[in-house]
Amino acid sequence: MFKQSALAALLLRLAAAGTTEWSGSFNDVTVSSLEDWSWSNQVGEYQWYIYGTGNTSDYLAFDASYANPDDSSSTVGAKVSLTSTSYWEGQTMRRTELIPQASDTSAIDSGTLYYHFSIMREDTNAPSVAREHQIAFFESHFTELQYGLADGGSGSGDTTLRWMANSAEQWNVTMEAGIWHNFAYEIDFSGGTVGLWHSTGGDDLTSVVSPVSASASSNGEDWHVGVLELPVTGVSDTTEDLYFSGVYIESGDITTTFSGSSSAAAVSSVAASSTVAAATSAAAPQTTALVSATSSVCKPRTTTVYVTASA
Ligand SMILES: *[C@@H]1O[C@H](CO)[C@@H](O)[C@H](O)[C@H]1NC(C)=O
Ligand SMILES: *[C@@H]1O[C@H](CO)[C@@H](O)[C@H](O)[C@H]1NC(C)=O
Repeated sequence: MFKQSALAALLLRLAAAGTTEWSGSFNDVTVSSLEDWSWSNQVGEYQWYIYGTGNTSDYLAFDASYANPDDSSSTVGAKVSLTSTSYWEGQTMRRTELIPQASDTSAIDSGTLYYHFSIMREDTNAPSVAREHQIAFFESHFTELQYGLADGGSGSGDTTLRWMANSAEQWNVTMEAGIWHNFAYEIDFSGGTVGLWHSTGGDDLTSVVSPVSASASSNGEDWHVGVLELPVTGVSDTTEDLYFSGVYIESGDITTTFSGSSSAAAVSSVAASSTVAAATSAAAPQTTALVSATSSVCKPRTTTVYVTASA
């Protein structure tokens, strides 16, 4: 009985699934494997260079308890931390960000794609409600989540998690401790639109904002999986943790399902081998030189300069 319902759930998932163009699953990521990445050795699933002056383990940790337990494809999640040393390249913002390391960047920066990720906060080391956090953003900020009091906003705090497109708020939800929020950005890079899918826990994703016009663009290595926090005068730095799970980029039909905790144990091994398969194609080290630089600069509403690549 149990096995059959688990199989049914898996078949449903496969029936609805698109193609995974890049997997940012943390299932096989370790602090040590990330530390192997450099501009001259672009290995693994992520570029890892936007963080403070400490060691990787000061800012990232991976554990089964950090994954969304209702997502059986994610056996390990990431704890992404901001600490008193989280100043990258002398900037005034605190930043801990991973960037996709795709073997073929064109596969993740053109056409229509779904950028999937799940996030959660706890009461312990909760992100400050008094500061603006930019989460899962692109270099040009055409789509991103924000949490905490908006930069320059009045009041002392804001507990909403807001979805922004082209710097305008489109949707929000209160971010309570211990609740996993699952998202997919529906990005049409050709048509210039972005929409939002959302659910909590193990519920199926639903479209919560139909695609709106946006200056959608990417070079395939400028999606910041992590958090950037703007400073606020008079608010001191405390350690803040944000948890990430279920990161992948999909083309074709969107996968809306998570396998659910009841069938998770039975499904996970099968699901892992079938849905994560695309992930394992190791990223070939790029022959292009350093930083090709990505990007350069992006200036959202503030005068702050967000440089992706160190020169
Ligand atoms: C980083 O780790 C090394 C080796 O464990 C240690 O010697 C060093 O003090 C650490 N640096 C920081 C900034 O914590
Ligand atoms: C936040 O979402 C609620 C609906 O859930 C909406 O009424 C409100 O206007 C939104 N806030 C902003 C600033 O858009």
